[in-house]
Amino acid sequence: MQELTDTAKALVANDKGLLALDESNPTCNKRFARFGIPQTEEVRRSYRELIVTTAGLNESISGAILYDETIRQQKKDGTPLIKIIVDAGIIPGIKVDAGAKAMAFHSGEKITEGLDGLRERLLEYSRMGARFAKWRAVITVGDGIPSRGCIDANAHALARYAALSQEAGLVPVVEPEVLMDGEHTMARCGEVSEEVLRAVFDQLSRQRVMLEGMILKTNMVLPGLRCPEQETITGVADATLRCLLRSVPAAVPGIAFLSGGQSAELASSRLNAMNIQYKSRAPWALSFSFARAIQQPALEIWQGREENLSAAQQALYHRAKCNRDARRGEYNPDMERIS
Ligand code: 13P
Repeated sequence: MQELTDTAKALVANDKGLLALDESNPTCNKRFARFGIPQTEEVRRSYRELIVTTAGLNESISGAILYDETIRQQKKDGTPLIKIIVDAGIIPGIKVDAGAKAMAFHSGEKITEGLDGLRERLLEYSRMGARFAKWRAVITVGDGIPSRGCIDANAHALARYAALSQEAGLVPVVEPEVLMDGEHTMARCGEVSEEVLRAVFDQLSRQRVMLEGMILKTNMVLPGLRCPEQETITGVADATLRCLLRSVPAAVPGIAFLSGGQSAELASSRLNAMNIQYKSRAPWALSFSFARAIQQPALEIWQGREENLSAAQQALYHRAKCNRDARRGEYNPDMERIS
């Protein structure tokens, strides 16, 4: 129990945050395809090598979330990628869900799979050195959805996985994500997010999950991408905190936001605004667990080419640092121009 609490605290300490590099192979391939990067295991390996060998990443990153393929991969010289992460002082974690699948009798909604055999997989990942485990549930907002059936099934699965993770000594990074896709307003996202988080914490308590030994990874409260009314940065910060203060127990050490398709700059600006306004008052750390909002600029620069490696690493380092600055309330979009 003490170890879980210490790890959870370490994941949000010193204004650092998590780097999500746990894209499944199909998702990673999709992101490569946009830039004409070959979609092979070797190219995915070299991309992950680029990320974990970025000098100084540990100044801003406390933990890195890996995918099953990545946790087994090595650098070109044979050093396991997980060893490079640990040697840099970054805590390695692993995505353990098996993906969100269409939910029976719930048109347009998804349920995350992966509970069968999870105890054994967690044990294996723990032996490999992972210290935390992530599971993502997705909730779609639309006409008549989300349904209570979808919210409850996903909340239950999240709690079952979280209990198994803690049993194995791994900190669960519990991720309910209300998707940005759609025309819904920010108010609707807030209502849905609050309902989802209440259901998740209800189930976590029923499954006897120790809140001090977990991290909540969730969405900011945002208007849908196709909503005609977009909101100000402080409006998003206020709506997000209103929702979280109502639904997330104070015993949770940290909330790490996902970026969910926001631009890198907006994700940092909104996190920054939340920390300026609420850091001294919120019971939990307001942190980040971004994939796209840290990686995207680096991937665009890299394009799968060796000669772009160093510029891509510089962009990755920079984005990670911008988010650490946002945790301090010291981010400014002008920083996006790398000197
Ligand atoms: P994004 O920051 O790209 O949303 O990814 C975070 C993540 O891990 C999604 O599960």
